[in-house]
Amino acid sequence: MSQHILTTTHGAVVRIQINRPEKKNALTLAMYDAMSEALLAAEADPAVRVILFAGAESCFTAGNDLGDFLDNPPSGEESPVFRFLKTLIAAQKPVLAAVHGVAVGIGTTMLLHCDLVWAGPSARFQLPFVNLGLTPEAASSLILPQLMGHRRAAELLLLGETFDAETALAVGLVNGLRADSELDDYVLHKAQTLAAKPPTAVRLSKELMKRWPAEAVRQTMSAEGEIFIARLHSPEAREAMTAFFERRQPDFSRAVDDVM
Ligand code: COA
Repeated sequence: MSQHILTTTHGAVVRIQINRPEKKNALTLAMYDAMSEALLAAEADPAVRVILFAGAESCFTAGNDLGDFLDNPPSGEESPVFRFLKTLIAAQKPVLAAVHGVAVGIGTTMLLHCDLVWAGPSARFQLPFVNLGLTPEAASSLILPQLMGHRRAAELLLLGETFDAETALAVGLVNGLRADSELDDYVLHKAQTLAAKPPTAVRLSKELMKRWPAEAVRQTMSAEGEIFIARLHSPEAREAMTAFFERRQPDFSRAVDDVM
């Protein structure tokens, strides 16, 4: 398991913690693999009833490591990022999340596949795909408009601006807000409350809620994935990511896009 993904057990709850704060918890290939393995192990262990994702004190995750996007972009559905998303979406046990600080890109879209999410006032969400010359992933192009209507989803996905915890609550991305100092204990308590409920009834209820949208999510992820992978090689995306590491504003007047 990657040193940047820590797994701890709290009774029947497994807590998967993203722990690379020096890089704002940006997710590398090894971290996606470690999260997939942790999810699969939790799913397979009959003693585990609830899975809980957490980040570090000041960051949930800054999303995909942009260096990996430049040097080792995903090439297909078996790539670590897609494998992680598919594993998360397929989880039969309830998945909870506690969000402090930045939750960028997949840091926001993975929450769409968690069952219960709470955030602290420090939470800052962002879907910067367009800013990076990219397009939505994790079926967010389907789920976000369903969740909040086209116009609000378009604001988040096209303008790609940061939004705060209150906004996340208003658009239905999180269940509630708790002070940052209390958040982790609160969400662990909720996880343990859920873990004490009859597990088969919980699993079947989750399955029923996910049954109808499952095929639409699968098809959307597949369509998104194809475009996303092509976009990663586009001049727009390379200019945006290079600009991030050079700590300058990207210049899209120079990036003539010939991909798609
Ligand atoms: N990939 C790789 N490295 C990242 C990263 C990412 N997604 N996000 C942050 N980092 C690194 C920075 O390069 C920096 O490294 P350094 O100290 O070696 O220079 C370190 O993490 C701290 O980041 P910094 O930008 O200085 O922190 P900040 O508090 O000013 O800003 C963010 C935090 C998350 C707003 C900003 O880092 C950011 O926008 N990151 C990119 C997010 C993104 O586009 N993710 C991909 C979505 S698809």
